[in-house]
Amino acid sequence: MPIQQQSFDVIIVGGGGAGLRAALQLSQANKRVAVISKVFPTRSHTVSAQGGINAALGNTDGRDDWRWHMYDTIVGSDYLGDQDAIEYMCQHAPEAVYELEHMGMPFSRNQQGKIYQRAFGGQTQDFGGDLVHRTCAAADRTGHALLHTLYQQNIKSKTIFFSEWYAVDLIQDEQQNVTGVLAIDIASGTLGVFSAQATVLATGGAGQIFYTTTNAYTNTGDGLGMVLRANLPLQDMEMWQFHPTGVLGAGVLITEAARGEGGYLINNKNERYMERYAPHLKDLSCRDVVSRCSMIEIREGRGVGSEGDHVLLKLDHLDAKVLNEKLPGIVALAKTFAGVDPSKEPIPVTPTCHYMMGGIPTDRFGQVVKLNAQGEDECVRGLYAAGECASVSVHGANRLGANSLLDIVVFGRSVGVAIISSLEQNKQQASPITEAQIEAASQRILRLRKTQEGEQVAHLRTVMQKIMQEHFGVFRTEEVMAEGLVQLKAVYQRVGHTKLSDTSQTFNTELIEALELENLILVAMASAELALARQESRGAHARIDFPNRDDENWFKHSLYYIDGKQGQRPVNMRPSMVDPFPLKERKY
Ligand code: FUM
Repeated sequence: MPIQQQSFDVIIVGGGGAGLRAALQLSQANKRVAVISKVFPTRSHTVSAQGGINAALGNTDGRDDWRWHMYDTIVGSDYLGDQDAIEYMCQHAPEAVYELEHMGMPFSRNQQGKIYQRAFGGQTQDFGGDLVHRTCAAADRTGHALLHTLYQQNIKSKTIFFSEWYAVDLIQDEQQNVTGVLAIDIASGTLGVFSAQATVLATGGAGQIFYTTTNAYTNTGDGLGMVLRANLPLQDMEMWQFHPTGVLGAGVLITEAARGEGGYLINNKNERYMERYAPHLKDLSCRDVVSRCSMIEIREGRGVGSEGDHVLLKLDHLDAKVLNEKLPGIVALAKTFAGVDPSKEPIPVTPTCHYMMGGIPTDRFGQVVKLNAQGEDECVRGLYAAGECASVSVHGANRLGANSLLDIVVFGRSVGVAIISSLEQNKQQASPITEAQIEAASQRILRLRKTQEGEQVAHLRTVMQKIMQEHFGVFRTEEVMAEGLVQLKAVYQRVGHTKLSDTSQTFNTELIEALELENLILVAMASAELALARQESRGAHARIDFPNRDDENWFKHSLYYIDGKQGQRPVNMRPSMVDPFPLKERKY
């Protein structure tokens, strides 16, 4: 097999918002940065983020405060979020948004010409008071506007792109330090060894472990698989967010902005049921809360349709101007994927897998951490992570809507800043990559190219997705999860014996899907094992058999290793500018 070798200051794996923001910081500081992306960067999943990006600007309400934003994020996370990181993110949010504005991001505008801000779930004034309008929006295509802006800035700053290259595995030296990445050029099948002093994983989420998801087909947890295979842990993988309004069947997202602009959910009695469950914030309670309420409606026979399997999102009472100017994207999506015109009839929706709160554990600077022999955090030299694949952890057990675009720009930038300072302090080149290390990283490709007999990738992927959907959904119990885990373990064994029917070198997408499946199954195993282990309900992890939050035993991050071993890390309660927010009951 031909192998190209190239060396950079920094390699970034992933061309979504986090990767591009990190790349921009580094390119502007004249570092040689390579972005390896399995799709053309502007096709990354960030492009589909709809509703907005949070920052306490107060443009709509006349007042807001980053400390209120911090409080809402901590409460929303059900206290599993790290308070040092949440403080950093919320405090830097206004600066991050203004920076995007100055880069040319086309935000919608209010009457005064300021950035338009709408209401989103779980966000309040005065530490739990009235709803606040904190979500800055470019209509309902905010991710699209953000991603294109960052891409253009990177072009201007001469970032080097390897588009349609797929990162296969990390390359490590004997001390587990990361010295580079092995990747494959999808077009030609050529392998490339990329070496650098710092590697940033910005590979996004892994919602494709579920059968119905708002996530793109590309969200296959590639960085997470790479980390597990490097004998490093993942954190809080039991925490999966179900968005209340995925289009029934298709899973396509209908933004929370639809409720922020005045839409609401109804059951088969035309009842606005969220008023009953959450009298204060109603349809704009946190996502985990709203999704659970919709599932209760469905389970108790108040679901809509011949199978009673969904609820309805009502928008037809909204002014046509609101639909056309603030929500044009979801009007089109509803017509295409649900066959309904939301100005005339409600949209059939159901809670749908949307976001992975857990991921690769990092500190506030994006440096990947592992536990040393004393059980303390230790940085993995040369390895960083940012965005959805990272668990920094600002989302804890449940993310607030529109904190995801914020996370990617704030921590994309902070990873860049941290790497620049590390490169400046440590001029030493990374140790050269050896033949043996390249061979170790190439093992999976070699197996797939050699195997003559085995199972088909697409079939196994569907089997895995259905297990996750059925056994690890919005509500969980020991019995159902344990049965799911047995089935998943069987799939895990079978994934080691997949075979390709396409043996060509050029554009072998079956090979890429096989590699992706090997990552997905690891993510699914981590999620299932940790979900079974956490015997409490917290945020999105709702156990019928353990309905309460158990701070005494479970106020901690959970860790999972590739051999099935588990561990724990304390939650950071040490913000630097304000007093910590103590644990209390979460109510909306
Ligand atoms: O509903 C939405 O627009 C999604 C936003 C988010 O997940 O942050």
